[in-house]
Amino acid sequence: MEVPTKMKSSQTYDEEDPVLERFHLLVNAPALFNSLVTALELDLFTIVSGGLSSFDEIRGATGLPPHSLRVLLYAVCTTGLLERRDGHYVNSRVAEEMLTGDTPDSWRHILVGWREVYYPAFAHLTEALRAGTNTALAAHPGSEPTLYQRLAHDPGLEAVFHRAMGAFTLRSVDALVESEQFASTRRLLDVGGGDGTTSTRLTARYPKLTSTIFDIPSVSHIAEQATAPSFGERVTVHPGDLFADPFPTGSDTVLFSHVLEIFSGEQITTLLAKAMDVLPPGGQVLIYGYNASDDETEGWYSARLTLYLNALASGQGMAYPAGNYEEWLRQAGFQQVRTLTGYPYEHGLHIGVKA
Ligand SMILES: C[S@@+](CC[C@H](N)C(=O)[O-])C[C@H]1O[C@@H](n2cnc3c(N)ncnc32)[C@H](O)[C@@H]1O
Repeated sequence: MEVPTKMKSSQTYDEEDPVLERFHLLVNAPALFNSLVTALELDLFTIVSGGLSSFDEIRGATGLPPHSLRVLLYAVCTTGLLERRDGHYVNSRVAEEMLTGDTPDSWRHILVGWREVYYPAFAHLTEALRAGTNTALAAHPGSEPTLYQRLAHDPGLEAVFHRAMGAFTLRSVDALVESEQFASTRRLLDVGGGDGTTSTRLTARYPKLTSTIFDIPSVSHIAEQATAPSFGERVTVHPGDLFADPFPTGSDTVLFSHVLEIFSGEQITTLLAKAMDVLPPGGQVLIYGYNASDDETEGWYSARLTLYLNALASGQGMAYPAGNYEEWLRQAGFQQVRTLTGYPYEHGLHIGVKA
């Protein structure tokens, strides 16, 4: 059969090309992403996991009008997270393992946060990159230069944001907690410690460890409420600004978990110098977070974070490759500088010791 000329010219690509498959997913991803968040908000995967798997059973459990449920199930099935077999719906293994139940580390908390806070900002990406600053921040009340500070004007959104961040941190923190670097730590300074998720995990794991969370006042308040009931005096908060205020003294380890990537190289050097000032000889600084690959071509989570930081959060920073952190640690005077790799979600741990 003769193929029409127009069709021939538009099909010069290889249908098997994996990049083409990614392209097709990518261009539809914003809509499908939202169908996933809606499914999580309606407990769809948990309902199916619990054995309610026919259309009518799911309709009864979700309360959705029939056509709405048809639309949602169709969209989620196209992602492969849900499968339809003989008129019943079945969770894929990924959905069963990652998307059922409701715990503090649930993807539901993470993705609701991304939808509410991160993704509206990406509509401004071209403008932000042209301007070289976080123009999407204009959507948030206040005049402070970063999202973290402005969220204090919107406690509801701030709570959503920290619930999402805490949930994601829980998904990457266990490997950090088991690092041998904490075996000798007694007094930790958790710089930009957020809602206290990391400090809580560390204190639970190491009974002799105490931690001070140093974060902005509104976030310190969230951390205090989250940690006080279980850890009392072993986790304390120190409200302040990382740049304007001195670092609290008395720690043998300074941890920057998901913090330095927010800032420029110059600011990172300033913060590492402040860490150096408060550490005793033999004290260590630990930097934990996302790393772009060395050649800056790989890492979906790291790329997403980098775009978010530049469009919205701070207007600078990125998931720097390990080499950048090692260079900044040496510049700040740290010795025995090294990087541990293989952590989940493209994370690395960079270590420096004060002579
Ligand atoms: C991405 S969160 C990381 C939270 C936590 N360390 C974790 O790993 O989940 C960054 C934290 O840095 C804090 N932060 C940002 N800028 C700050 C500043 N200028 N002074 C104090 N804290 C700041 C934010 O409030 C936020 O809690």
